Amino acid sequence: MQRMKSPASVVTAVIGAQWGDEGKGKLIDLLAENFDVVARACGGANAGHTIVVGGKKHVFRLLPSGCLHTNAEIVLGAGMVMHLPTLLEEIGLLRNEGMDIVPRLRISHEAHILFDFHKEIDGVLEERRSKLGKGIGTTRRGIGPAYMDKAARTGIRMEKLGEDIRGELQKRADDLHVSYGIALDAEREQKQLNDAETMLKSCVTDTIQLLHDRMYSGKRILIEGAQATLLDIDHGTYPYVTSSSTTIAGALQGLGIPPNALGEVIGVAKAYCTRVGAGEFFTEVEGSIGERLRERGGEYGSVTKRPRRCGWLHLPDLIRSAMINGFSCWNITKLDVLDTEAVIPVGMGEKNGKAIMQEFVGWKTSTVGVTAFDDLPKQAQQLVVFIEQETGIPVRYIGTGQGREEMIVR
Ligand code: GDP
Ligand code: IMO
Ligand code: MG
Repeated sequence: MQRMKSPASVVTAVIGAQWGDEGKGKLIDLLAENFDVVARACGGANAGHTIVVGGKKHVFRLLPSGCLHTNAEIVLGAGMVMHLPTLLEEIGLLRNEGMDIVPRLRISHEAHILFDFHKEIDGVLEERRSKLGKGIGTTRRGIGPAYMDKAARTGIRMEKLGEDIRGELQKRADDLHVSYGIALDAEREQKQLNDAETMLKSCVTDTIQLLHDRMYSGKRILIEGAQATLLDIDHGTYPYVTSSSTTIAGALQGLGIPPNALGEVIGVAKAYCTRVGAGEFFTEVEGSIGERLRERGGEYGSVTKRPRRCGWLHLPDLIRSAMINGFSCWNITKLDVLDTEAVIPVGMGEKNGKAIMQEFVGWKTSTVGVTAFDDLPKQAQQLVVFIEQETGIPVRYIGTGQGREEMIVR
């Protein structure tokens, strides 16, 4: 018999509060050892989550960052759009390091397959928009076009793995040629599908049933958000957003988890702010200060290698993200990147399109690797307390370096 009531508070989620790249991956990697299941809900290989363990760097795109913990079951949920060659490449990279993820990988049969032609369409659409001066600066990973197919109900889902879909694809070839000037290579797409089937057939399953079975047997689930709140298709800085729901609501929807199973939602925000791609950014700083933040923070896209636009923290964004996601606490990341700043401005709002800034005195000393709040310089503590007071949400985690261990936990 099916039990219909979900156990309360067994799910923890990590959600980005700015425009992505806040350091979600690092927190997931840190938390994952206390969880039985780590799940991605939405998005695709537009995500790039970097973790550094024992000095070694790993970048995850479709797999969650928690997968280095060998006890964790890995779930890729229905809300995702999956480029299978990228997934096989990621699995292969882990294999080269002696880790076989396949036996503990579960992929929703409802997740959509992102084909090479989606990536090509992404490029064509981006070029068209750029000519009109409206380029979004997408990652060109095919995300928008894959979600277009999903919404138009013409998408192909993971349940089709193992089938011959050349005929179905071929039917679209003329249309894609006329609409976008691209040539759909059905044979190549089919081959990629067959390669994926060989490795992944046993992984494709009803992940909703699986997640509910795990919850009932007392297991704990960790959700790794991808992208971030200001990139959300509904609530972000539209149209300069991604094509999925990046908030906690989107994560629950993408995994088929009901809200009453949710315990904590941890909001991740940098102590400053970055953005890749176009769109508003009131506290952006160009010139030498922006460059300093970019160099100190290593602010280059992990997917596209594009230099990230850099600027100061903007508190109204954190407050709005907290409203939407109901954050229980913050992880403020990359505090150490501000170590050399004499003055640290914080955006408090805007007037006539200009940011209103409040200035904090910098601490001008290294915080790299600090693991106790009391060991932070007073000025750094004040900045953290200010964020807590202004947002009304406690800061429980503070990042002080790239390494897994470089984190203050309060
Ligand atoms: P994500 O997409 O939110 O997972 O973030 P990314 O991995 O794209 O970008 C965050 C970058 O900052 C990565 O290179 C991390 O290794 C790095 N990082 C995360 N936390 C910290 C921190 O506290 N200090 C420093 N210096 N780097 C950090
Ligand atoms: P993680 O998970 C930062 C941005 C792109 C572009 C816009 C639309 O690493 O935080 P898309 O390819 O999704 O259609 O691009 O969204 N973007 C991200 N920026 N981090 C990400 O993911 C992003 N995913 C998408 O740069 O502005
Ligand atoms: Mg990233």
